[in-house]
Amino acid sequence: MSTSAIMNTYGERTTTLTRGEGPYLWDSNGTRYLDALSGIAVCGLGYNYPAVTRAICEQAEKLVHCSNLYIIEPQQALGNLLVELSGMERVFFSNSGAEANEAALKIARKYGQQKGIKAPEVITADKSFHGRTLATLSATGNQKVKNGFEPLVSGFVHVSYNDINAIKAAATENTVAIMVEPIQGEGGINIPADDYLNQLRDLCDEKGWLLMLDEIQSGNGRTGEFFAYQHNKIKPDVVTTAKGLGNGVPIGACLARGAAAEILQPGNHGSTFGGNPLVCAAALAATKALVDEKLIARAATLSTIMLESLKTQLKDSTKVADIRGKGMMFGIQLNRDCAELVEKAKAKHLLLNVTAGSTIRLLPPLIISDEQAQTIVDTVVQLIEEF
Ligand SMILES: Cc1ncc(COP(=O)(O)O)c(C=O)c1O
Repeated sequence: MSTSAIMNTYGERTTTLTRGEGPYLWDSNGTRYLDALSGIAVCGLGYNYPAVTRAICEQAEKLVHCSNLYIIEPQQALGNLLVELSGMERVFFSNSGAEANEAALKIARKYGQQKGIKAPEVITADKSFHGRTLATLSATGNQKVKNGFEPLVSGFVHVSYNDINAIKAAATENTVAIMVEPIQGEGGINIPADDYLNQLRDLCDEKGWLLMLDEIQSGNGRTGEFFAYQHNKIKPDVVTTAKGLGNGVPIGACLARGAAAEILQPGNHGSTFGGNPLVCAAALAATKALVDEKLIARAATLSTIMLESLKTQLKDSTKVADIRGKGMMFGIQLNRDCAELVEKAKAKHLLLNVTAGSTIRLLPPLIISDEQAQTIVDTVVQLIEEF
């Protein structure tokens, strides 16, 4: 039996990581790993990014925390920058992705209540992942994460992803919003048809529903736009992000536009730590770096190189069912479950992840060099050949 004081929510862990620099991490034995996962889509700038580290240190010397009863300068600056980059109008800062989605869901509920809908419903997708709080796991389209936690929060209707007709069929007079990921991350890097988000936008406009996009994994430059919806030239009513926003400090954001931006009023919502000076200073530096260093465009360029190389090298593999990717989000779906590849990759000094049972998921940092990108591809190809 484990002697650890930590609850066993992550299963057995065998590697202790103690240091990071760029795309590399070192364990307590001094072994270096190339990280093709970025702390699960968090450290897009890699580790110990100088401008972020500097911002954290400088802010820590000035003011780590004050309550949201006062104006917080880095919070204002980050809010303004996010609004500018996203085309949204207002921001609520949280501490995590799930909390950002909680804010979005509360907006949807109150939006419905204001229209006289007593039991508002939000349509979400099968194979989605929206978080582990009770409302967000109720929204999630994966039975495995819900088992044992009933009764769930009511008011969610699940439909097939990438199927506008399924939404039309599931809608009722209580429908108030659609919430989907522009690319499903945990569900296996599932990329919908090019016009899926446009179809959702049109349907929401027609019906007066809120379009709420969960960009907690796909946001912050990862897909080659700041938010993935920007590929579609649409704007959602609500978008949530977290992971890559602070490059490792815990911060989430729920951005809204139009009527949705005015729903939460004093007393409706809040957070002690959400948007505190330290995390906002870090996220501001991280977001500025993404823009200033042109890393969003770089994600798109690297994506093409990596996808082409993966597809070329694996084109004759009988073990591969599909190769998907957009920006620095890649899913290589095998014909059988392959969770064991995580440890096998680690033995080759590469960190990656397997999701949805049989999909190797790569979420590399946006700062990797061409050579590092090739090393990731070549190692994955070798792993599959040996599997
Ligand atoms: C799309 C999406 N939504 C929500 C979450 C939950 O974020 P957090 O773990 O920060 O609560 C995740 C985390 O993996 C995610 O990928």
